Amino acid sequence: MYTIALLIQKGGSGKTTLAISLATTAAADGLTALIVDLDPQTSACNWHDRRVAANPGAQNPLCLSAQPSRLAAVLREAGEGGIDLVIIDTPAKSSDAALAAAKVADLVLVPCKPQTFDLETVKSTREIIALAGGKPALAILNDVGAVGNRHEQAKAFLQNEGLPVCPYSFGHRVCFGDAVFFGKSATEHDPRGKGAEECRNVYKYTIRIVRKLEQERKRNNGIAKNGPRQARVKAG
Ligand SMILES: Nc1ncnc2c1ncn2[C@@H]1O[C@H](COP(=O)(O)OP(=O)(O)OP(=O)(O)O)[C@@H](O)[C@H]1O
Ligand SMILES: [Mg+2]
Repeated sequence: MYTIALLIQKGGSGKTTLAISLATTAAADGLTALIVDLDPQTSACNWHDRRVAANPGAQNPLCLSAQPSRLAAVLREAGEGGIDLVIIDTPAKSSDAALAAAKVADLVLVPCKPQTFDLETVKSTREIIALAGGKPALAILNDVGAVGNRHEQAKAFLQNEGLPVCPYSFGHRVCFGDAVFFGKSATEHDPRGKGAEECRNVYKYTIRIVRKLEQERKRNNGIAKNGPRQARVKAG
């Protein structure tokens, strides 16, 4: 099971939009996905309610609301229940929830608009990631305008802050907002649209990273268990 936490200390950066996009694209890719909504605003759960009301058979992705203190238990149950991918959506301005999510994550994604108000919160978001043990993290630029080079400036800023940036981003597109009204994601609402293509690209890129991280973890566990020599022989 892979666990991805979405966090940034700025509201409205696209955490829930990214959570929904990744979870539905993972489901379309054959994974069983679960969104864990740590936000008392429960936007992801509200989206899921609309989704199930429109299609009572919609079982993947699943979505549930949880408190940060219940996260470990939720993940244990998710693992036992055959979930392949857990996506943790967090509230803005809650370092408790963000820290709890970062601690259990294999990968932290930081959705960020190429705007000053978003970028200036990246430092405190990085501090939370460091407190969680310096988890692998990746910024995803969201709501990128069709003109201008603000996203290039934002990318340079983020890299300078020590945060790698996903080569794929989400443009400013109405499909992201329109889709959630129907309990859908952009990939489902307008499968041939640019927003859908962006979702698939971001998904493919991030899932490749978590798979690589898992391979590394397994290799390191092998080394810890068997010692370096046996682990090398096994790998060879
Ligand atoms: N790429 C985009 N293009 C257009 N609108 C977008 C895009 N991404 C997000 N939005 C819209 O911006 C608003 C905020 O997005 P979202 O709720 O995903 O942010 P959030 O970080 O989860 O916010 P909060 O901190 O309040 O939980 C929503 O109305 C959403 O539909
Ligand atoms: Mg949200």
